[in-house]
Amino acid sequence: SETDKGTYPFYMLKEIDEQPIVIRNLLSRYFDADKHVQFGSEILREIREADRLYIIAAGTSYHAGLVGGRMFEQWSGKPTEVHISSEFAYEQPLLSEKPFFIFLSQSGETADSREVLQQINAQGHHSLTLTNVEKSTLWREATYALPLLAGPEIAVASTKAYIAQVTLEAMLAYAVADQAQLGFDLEQELSKIAVDIQGIVDDKETFKQVAEELLVPAQSAFYIGRGVDSAVSLEAALKLKEISYVQAEGFAAGELKHGTLALIEKGTPVIALMTQPKMALLTRGNLAETQARGAKAYTIVSKSIAKANDNYVLPDTIDLLSPLLSVVPTQLLAYYTSLGRGLDVDRPRNLAKSVTVQ
Ligand code: G6P
Repeated sequence: SETDKGTYPFYMLKEIDEQPIVIRNLLSRYFDADKHVQFGSEILREIREADRLYIIAAGTSYHAGLVGGRMFEQWSGKPTEVHISSEFAYEQPLLSEKPFFIFLSQSGETADSREVLQQINAQGHHSLTLTNVEKSTLWREATYALPLLAGPEIAVASTKAYIAQVTLEAMLAYAVADQAQLGFDLEQELSKIAVDIQGIVDDKETFKQVAEELLVPAQSAFYIGRGVDSAVSLEAALKLKEISYVQAEGFAAGELKHGTLALIEKGTPVIALMTQPKMALLTRGNLAETQARGAKAYTIVSKSIAKANDNYVLPDTIDLLSPLLSVVPTQLLAYYTSLGRGLDVDRPRNLAKSVTVQ
């Protein structure tokens, strides 16, 4: 059944492997036979008419929001703010004239996000929830809701729900954008990405080995990147710390020199994500600074900008879709670090799958 681990030792690995299917599910649900995106026209009208979008989420869903916010701004020209629900709920920022809210939540039950939804409902604002659990609280209480179609996610560490959220955000941003001006076919790109993710998950042995050499013995580790790679760095570090207990930080690469560089010692792992052509060279410079202080570097780089001594090369895609590829090696690195440390990958200490307290 869907909630059966089958031959997998842990749900997390099964869920990582399901990611290509998740993208295909979303493609077949939300694209019609003519390859046009299908959403309720009401949802698209609300997004078009809003003068600003507010994406509200927690944890990994917040990290998916950081990616989606860039798509709404850069593809659809829609100013977008991305907020952590536990902050927004108790210090609401000034809202624009015509705000529209997008809630991201795997479970649809996160208390902090529910609190925000109650507040904005009382203020008379409209909202859309993207969630994996139909009929959950955030599903029922928002003006509109769309399912993530990722299937049950059992492991505490979220993987396929992140992929589903980023994919669905891309579809929404694309649907309200001027597609001719964007100049790419999202359906085609996402179909290719599903195949490319399969290629990455087929490289499990590579990541197992890197995790064992680089991360299992580590006390601390850093992920760095710029632009959307900085958002993926946050998610990569969260994944690593939550299941392997390695102290990890994700960083906007340019900020390292303003303090954090002091933490780099001989042997500290620094993993650089470089998928954005206009920023990759700068990140290479930041990585070199850490290496000069003894860091052990590992690079995950898009093909078009890869150099001979890069460590892992990702297939090319549209810049803002790259998180769908770059996050996968980091999920596998976290998984094999946890496994290598002999931990319970699916049930890390102190954590819950869904946090229903504020
Ligand atoms: C918990 C989970 C995380 C998740 C976060 C938000 O902390 O352990 O994996 O990202 O809640 O949950 P949600 O269901 O709202 O996406």
